[in-house]
Amino acid sequence: MAADWGVGAANSSLSQPAVFAPAARPAQDIETLAWFTIAVCTGIALIVGGLLAYSIIRFRARPGDDGREPPQVYGSNPIEFAWTVVPLLIVFVLILTTARTIYTVQAAPRPPNAVNVRVIGHQWWWEVRYPDLNIVTANEIHVPVSDPANPTPTFLDLESADVAHSFWVPQLAGKTDLIPNRKNTMWIAPHTAGTYLGQCAEFCGMEHALMLLRVIVQPRAQWEQWVAAQRKPAAHEPAAADGRHIFESTACVNCHTVRGSVANGRFGPDLTHIMSRDTLGAGAAMNTPDNLKTWIRDPSLIKPGALMPAMNLSDAELAGVASYLETLR
Ligand code: CUA
Repeated sequence: MAADWGVGAANSSLSQPAVFAPAARPAQDIETLAWFTIAVCTGIALIVGGLLAYSIIRFRARPGDDGREPPQVYGSNPIEFAWTVVPLLIVFVLILTTARTIYTVQAAPRPPNAVNVRVIGHQWWWEVRYPDLNIVTANEIHVPVSDPANPTPTFLDLESADVAHSFWVPQLAGKTDLIPNRKNTMWIAPHTAGTYLGQCAEFCGMEHALMLLRVIVQPRAQWEQWVAAQRKPAAHEPAAADGRHIFESTACVNCHTVRGSVANGRFGPDLTHIMSRDTLGAGAAMNTPDNLKTWIRDPSLIKPGALMPAMNLSDAELAGVASYLETLR
């Protein structure tokens, strides 16, 4: 039985990814170019199809035809000139408009007020770092709304820790690959607040299909609140001390970081503020207490092939670790 771990239900309140519903540049630039290309191609299809239909009907076989071939036209310079030059012009217009869009997207300068984010692809999750803000998170990228009159775009430096991945949030921008030993750059300037769903768009192994991501676009003030909360060290609630001790004495700490504790692994997502995230397992499940317990018990129940092992904790240990993680807001 395929459970949706709450993700399907939760997604119904989110707009589904759609390339024809852009909420940001450069997705808008790409949409404009796509509609122009579709219009040109539709025009060609209508003209060619119309002439074809006209000829088939107008010159169909009729009773009383004399059976001779119609006049054949060879070497007509005007006709050959027309059917060579017109397609050439169409192709040139499409090439030039496409090149112009590519240039405005790829050559856009990084303004000094840009938000800088480093995204590192892993099998099968996204490490998200804000180098100027000392924030480390995963799978959910918070960015401010960019006012078109006074843009504050977010620039993303894309890298990979293992294999090739591809960053794709259709409503915000086109795809850009994350390639080992290389840094690719892209940017987004979203004009509408909201949560936008994305997906790794390059086959990267067993759980490629569950390498989901979210970009949460917030009004500037709200985004700044998020930044302030993320910059804080991990919560240290005395009531969760037992669970914290279990967490810190298992292999969890080899892969996960909780800032301000002995946990400083880099192989898995930073858990300092895990409860501030909507989802678990890179969008595989909603971040509910039940799903969190299931995930800790055995991640493969939610995401078969996930590289996080089942820790074989006893029920008491599991409850302790889960209640500790639930304090990391
Ligand atoms: Cu990462 Cu597909």
